Amino acid sequence: MSSEHRDRVPIDAQSVDAPLSRFAVFLVVSAAEGDDALATVREVVSGVDDLLKTVGFRDLGSHLSCVVGIGRRLWDRLVPGIRPVELEVFPTVRGDVHTAPSTPGDLLFHIRAERVDLCFELERLILDALGSAVRVEDETQGFRYFDVRDLLGFVDGTANPIGDELQASAIIGDDDPAFAGGSYVVVQKYVHDLPEWGSLTVEEQETVIGRTKLENIELDDSVENQKAHKTLTTINDDNGDELDILRDNMPFGTPGSGEMGTYFIGYSARLWVTMKMIDNMFIGDPPGFYDKILDVSRAATGGTFFVPSNGVLHGLDDPDALVESLRALREDASSDAPSPMGDDAGEESKGDG
Ligand code: HEM
Repeated sequence: MSSEHRDRVPIDAQSVDAPLSRFAVFLVVSAAEGDDALATVREVVSGVDDLLKTVGFRDLGSHLSCVVGIGRRLWDRLVPGIRPVELEVFPTVRGDVHTAPSTPGDLLFHIRAERVDLCFELERLILDALGSAVRVEDETQGFRYFDVRDLLGFVDGTANPIGDELQASAIIGDDDPAFAGGSYVVVQKYVHDLPEWGSLTVEEQETVIGRTKLENIELDDSVENQKAHKTLTTINDDNGDELDILRDNMPFGTPGSGEMGTYFIGYSARLWVTMKMIDNMFIGDPPGFYDKILDVSRAATGGTFFVPSNGVLHGLDDPDALVESLRALREDASSDAPSPMGDDAGEESKGDG
């Protein structure tokens, strides 16, 4: 990659690795058809930093952050002709018993802060600015519950990667140089049947999750073929090395409505790793032996988004220049590669999705 191209598309990542916060908003919207709507989306998304500063500066200690993700259909409208190698629409994953649905959504805003009013204010300003250019598909307010537990009562997030591993797991690097600094994010809103979960003994619950409830200690799988949640979501590469994702799940709910659960969010440098976890959970490994967490957790939504680096995000307001830069980066990378054949995956996206 030449230094000139690197300058034109900086690879500084959005705040994917923001620290765990007390509050979060997960906002998924669909973009309206037409050029006017697209122009508004371009302007708001490329300038979201300004809104973030407007609100976040009022209390810097509350660490307001916002990550913007773009779904494949909108990506192809915003940046026609070149897309991140793995970006796809979230597929419906059908197991024998449980299904992970694919639900509409073109943009994801993952807003985090130590104060709920900051999250509220930023979301309000973003939606005001977008106006009729978008329709809200799902809006979920998450909160931190006791010692980082989910509503099933288990500590959630322990096995997350840290330090250098976090970058390698969550942020795209040399695999797709044009989109280095980006990330793939998958979200699913799970609604829990807490009375059903509560009817299990603590030992049965621990077998489902694969950790003890009180002390959070990892357990070996004890039932033949039936793997625990933590085992079904452990993915290894061909060398046996573990491939992690970065999760920042949050409990949500309104007890008055009876709807409550876990909002799953997973960032990954390789989308296939997250999707393999979801396949293992719903289809089972071996097939049929699905994740028993699903007997008490219904997936109500499912979406996949690409989180561009800040440089690409800002570049969305000048799509011609952006496409040119991205193409140049990809061409540079393929001319450096040992074989010029076969490394243009994801390019020239036309008429699909
Ligand atoms: C581990 C809860 C959905 C991926 C865990 C753990 C809990 C948990 C309590 C053990 C502690 C930890 O390491 O964090 C839940 C709940 C879910 C959910 C309540 C929704 C109902 C998912 C989904 C994925 C996933 C959809 C992937 C697409 C993982 C991974 C681990 C994990 C990668 C760590 C495995 C390891 O030990 O290496 N989850 N999870 N989870 N979960 Fe989930």
